Amino acid sequence: PDRYAVAGNPVAHSRSPEIHAAFAAQTGQSLVYERLLCPLDGFEAAIRDFVASGARGCNVTVPFKFDAFRLAARRTSRAELAGAVNTLRFDTEGGWLGDNTDGAGLVADIERNAARPLRGQRVLLIGAGGASAGVLGSLIGGRPAEIRIVNRSADKAVALAASHRAWADDHGVRLSAGGLDAPAPDGRHDVMINGTSASLSGAGLPLPDPDAPVLAVGGLAVDMMYGAAAAPFLDWAAGQAGAGGATRDGLGMLVEQAAEAFLLWRGVRPDSAAVLADLRRRLA
Ligand code: ATR
Repeated sequence: PDRYAVAGNPVAHSRSPEIHAAFAAQTGQSLVYERLLCPLDGFEAAIRDFVASGARGCNVTVPFKFDAFRLAARRTSRAELAGAVNTLRFDTEGGWLGDNTDGAGLVADIERNAARPLRGQRVLLIGAGGASAGVLGSLIGGRPAEIRIVNRSADKAVALAASHRAWADDHGVRLSAGGLDAPAPDGRHDVMINGTSASLSGAGLPLPDPDAPVLAVGGLAVDMMYGAAAAPFLDWAAGQAGAGGATRDGLGMLVEQAAEAFLLWRGVRPDSAAVLADLRRRLA
C-alpha cells in the first residue's frame, strides 16, 4: 500500500493517523498513514528518507511548515499566500507539490459543519502567528464583508494584513488590523476565531478585557485548538453570543484539512462529517 505520514515534532499526540485510516477505509483506498517524528534540525533528511522508502505524501505540522514550504518545488496559490505548507505530495514528475489545506479546512468547518456562510459577515481573527497566517487567505476567499485581525503585538497583525491586502481587495473584503485592545472599531463581529496559543501559556483568554463586547448575539466562535485547550475561550464566547450562538473547537478544522489533503493525494473526497462525528464520540 502507498505510504503517508504526519511529520512534526512532537507528533505522538496527532490524530491524523486515525483520521486518514478512517478516510481510507471509507473510500476503499489502500494506504498506510504513520507518525514521522523528525529531529528539530533534521526535517529535510527525515523527509528524504521517507520518500526513499516509497512514500507518496505527508502532512506537516509544528514546527516544520516553513521548512516544508521551502522544500516544495511547486506550491499551490493558497500555500503561497499562507507562506507555509501543511501537505506535501511527492510527485515524481515536476517535483514535490506543496499545499496548505488549513484554511480550506477551517472554512469548510464554519460553512458546512456549522452552516454559517462567511459571505457578508464581519469576522474577527485573534492572533497573527503561524496559525492565523495559514487560514487568512481562505477566510478572505469566503468573501466576508470585513476581517479585523487583532494581536498582542499589533505590528504583527498589521504585517499579516499587509501581506494579504491585494487578495482582500480582489475579493471585496475590508481588511484591518490592530492590537488586542481594539477588537471592534465598528461593532461586534458575527464570527470570531481564536488563532492564538494563549491557552497553552495558561493565560486562558487572549483578550485583555473579557467584558468588552466582541461577538454579536447569535454569533459563532471558533478556536483553532481542540478539547480542553479550547474550553476557556469558547466558554467565554458562549456568554457573549447568548442564545442562538454557536461554538466550535478545532476538531472540525482538523478533520476538514485532512479531507482536503486526502483529496489532493487520492483524488477522492471522503465523507468528513461522518469521520468528525465518530472522532468526537471517541474523544468525549
Ligand atoms: P502558532 O503557529 O500557533 O500561530 P506563533 O506563530 O508563535 O504560533 O503565534 C502564537 C500567537 O499566539 C501569536 O499571535 C501570539 O501573539 P504575539 O504575536 O503577540 O506573540 C499569540 N499569543 C500567545 N500567547 C498569548 C497570550 N498569552 N495572550 C495573547 N496572545 C498570545
